[in-house]
Amino acid sequence: MSDSADDKGQVTLDRAEAEGLAMALLRAAGLPADDAAIAARCLVRADLRGVDTHGMIRLPGYLDRIAKGLVDPAPKLDFEAVAPNVARLDGKNGLGFVVATRAVDHAIGMARELGLGLIGVRNSTHYGMAATYLLQAIDAGFAAMVLTNASPAMPPWGGRAEMFGTSPFAVGVPAPGSVPFVLDMAPTVVARGKIRKAAREGRMIPEGWGLDAEGRNTTDPAAVMAGGVLLPIGGPKGAGLSMMLDILCGVLTGARYGGEVGDQYKRFDRPQGVGHFILVMRPDLFLPADEIAARMGDLVTRVKANPKAAGADDIFMPGEIEARREAARLAHGIPYARADLAPLVDLARAGGIALPKGL
Ligand SMILES: NC(=O)c1ccc[n+]([C@@H]2O[C@H](COP(=O)([O-])OP(=O)(O)OC[C@H]3O[C@@H](n4cnc5c(N)ncnc54)[C@H](O)[C@@H]3O)[C@@H](O)[C@H]2O)c1
Repeated sequence: MSDSADDKGQVTLDRAEAEGLAMALLRAAGLPADDAAIAARCLVRADLRGVDTHGMIRLPGYLDRIAKGLVDPAPKLDFEAVAPNVARLDGKNGLGFVVATRAVDHAIGMARELGLGLIGVRNSTHYGMAATYLLQAIDAGFAAMVLTNASPAMPPWGGRAEMFGTSPFAVGVPAPGSVPFVLDMAPTVVARGKIRKAAREGRMIPEGWGLDAEGRNTTDPAAVMAGGVLLPIGGPKGAGLSMMLDILCGVLTGARYGGEVGDQYKRFDRPQGVGHFILVMRPDLFLPADEIAARMGDLVTRVKANPKAAGADDIFMPGEIEARREAARLAHGIPYARADLAPLVDLARAGGIALPKGL
């Protein structure tokens, strides 16, 4: 049940309401029920975890690309075996959520039998929050590295034209009885969604997040979005990391690479051509499972016991803040800015789709 409208600017939806709305819109766009449920879950999970730059707010963009014929709402996905535990997958321009979720599922199957499973995916599209796929593997008891390339956002180090993506690097390891490791990070100082959000909300951004079209450091998010570039973490190291993701996900899989992955908001002449590199492994390949669980628990204890830096209230595992937020939002609902949901409300009304209470 929704907490209904908080005030004029905000509304709180519970998970089922948000997923129901997303699912109805995706079904209306031609997704089969199973696939619509997967995509709706991925989008709402980002909102639950506070990664709202990659949640429901993005749905109009995906629906628009489906309507333009750039995303196939119902691709038939067939895994081609390369080795007993290695496969390639043509995503056939399906929604990245569906392609990646099915690929992780297939990789889990191979890892269950053979210890690890590796899948190279081509012809996919933007898959949102990478942590979704880590959690999918972790929930099944597996460790995973789930990588994607992305549309150009930053230059190679020393250049000034965007080429490599904000491609998130994501690795997850389960820790039964403790806090799992869920590292999901863009190699840019921030993801482009955060800059887009700041521009939408009329907020300035800190220096060091991006350059304007002339290659100058700027605090104006609109200047970054208008022909500027994002800056990598750690200078050449972050730029190298993004290049690594482009090589693993693009060059090696047969997906687009080297600046050719299409921007979902700018390129409407062809599908995106995103690639993913998905590795799932049994965490107990080298030691018994109970020993691994004990060692992960021990690691978390040691991390938490580290003396705190000035100004730090707590020490968190990667993904822990998001997990706590998810628990809170599952209990109390997800707060949305009405302005962010307005395009979805319009689409639902136009399609005769019932809206959750309060919207
Ligand atoms: N699909 C795509 O093409 C694409 C592109 C870019 C970003 N994204 C997504 O955008 C999201 C945001 O990326 P981001 O780089 O801005 O993430 P972020 O900077 O918010 O977090 C990066 C990592 O740091 C961890 N972290 C943050 N604060 C912490 C703390 N105080 N203690 C311990 N760990 C902490 C987080 O848990 C996370 O694992 C990600 O989910 C990413 O997958 C997707």
